[in-house]
Amino acid sequence: MGKVILTGDRPTGKLHLGHFVGSLRRRVELQNSGEFEKIFIMIADAQALTDNADNPDKVRENIIEVALDYLSAGLDPEKSTLFIQSQVPELCELAFYYMNLVTVQRLQRNPTVKAEIQLRGFSESEAEEEAADPTQRRPGTPVGFFTYPISQASDITAFRATTVPVGADQEPMIEQTREIVHKFNSVYGPTLVEPEILLPENAACLRLPGTDGKAKMSKSLGNCIYLSDTADEVKKKVMGMYTDPNHLRVEDPGQVEGNTVFTYLDAFSTTEQVQRLMPDYEDLEAVKAHYRRGGLGDVKVKRLLIAVLNEILDPMRERRRHFEQHIEEVYAMLKAGSERARAEAAHTLEDVRRAMRINYFEDEELIARQAEMFKNK
Ligand code: TRP
Repeated sequence: MGKVILTGDRPTGKLHLGHFVGSLRRRVELQNSGEFEKIFIMIADAQALTDNADNPDKVRENIIEVALDYLSAGLDPEKSTLFIQSQVPELCELAFYYMNLVTVQRLQRNPTVKAEIQLRGFSESEAEEEAADPTQRRPGTPVGFFTYPISQASDITAFRATTVPVGADQEPMIEQTREIVHKFNSVYGPTLVEPEILLPENAACLRLPGTDGKAKMSKSLGNCIYLSDTADEVKKKVMGMYTDPNHLRVEDPGQVEGNTVFTYLDAFSTTEQVQRLMPDYEDLEAVKAHYRRGGLGDVKVKRLLIAVLNEILDPMRERRRHFEQHIEEVYAMLKAGSERARAEAAHTLEDVRRAMRINYFEDEELIARQAEMFKNK
């Protein structure tokens, strides 16, 4: 059987460079490799709603942003099925059955869920949920949020995905999916396909820091470079980037480790680019060596990064300009993709229902046997 990709993003904002090196760039490469029989790219609006129940318009407005980011990055609807999660109701039914195969305790141990509950500040005590002072009051964890790893297992298995290209933070989700697949297949017989995670190869890409040097590029920290940023915005953001705080004068030796500009160069630049844009250096390692020795200023390195980023972003900007003038067609494409996705998921669901022995009406043997039994009572 051919290899199948399923992956996606929550539409809670525009996609940024962290998304790009973490997964999007790889998806486009895989798409163009011709190695995969089918590719499904999902805008995970239902998952976004698990912690945005009171903010449906945010999700609604960002679907088109993510779709434009996908198309600009080079995902091609002729080769990849782009679709919207909520338009495939079969996924909910699968999740409902998988819920019986996962314990509350196992979900509580999921490291990503744990970290995200902390990050979102959901309360862990009744006292906090019911504090008299409304500024002290914090809501608890929505059940849908808590169980989203199960929903994610349905997303992946519905399409019989063999390969899930995602960022490192998604590893526990894929692990949990594999467990569900094992459990399902051992209880109901071989039915579901066990997926494999595909992580970025380069450490700088695993978790791209923000422009402020903080752990992670993230909208809430305001440290992002968006795929939709203009060349001027990119220039401004890079010029303001965190480098080595002790590298005060050009002649001073500089530190490369933890220096965000170099981390980005690791993530984005090719040797060809370095040689062409800074002809005095053989490769990025040579640039780093000079910086370490002293005598290479931040501004020069930042200029290199700006050029590298704009070489990546320029073709995206051009594609985006085109698709922005064709929003109706983008929606029509998503609708057609969602229909194709739905047919695929329905097919898996039929297998699941049969395996779980809830396919009563197609089981003529069952009906005939019971008819006989009751007649002879
Ligand atoms: N959890 C992913 C994110 O936050 C989005 C997602 C939902 C996903 N379902 C998926 C990713 C299935 C890969 C496979 O970005």
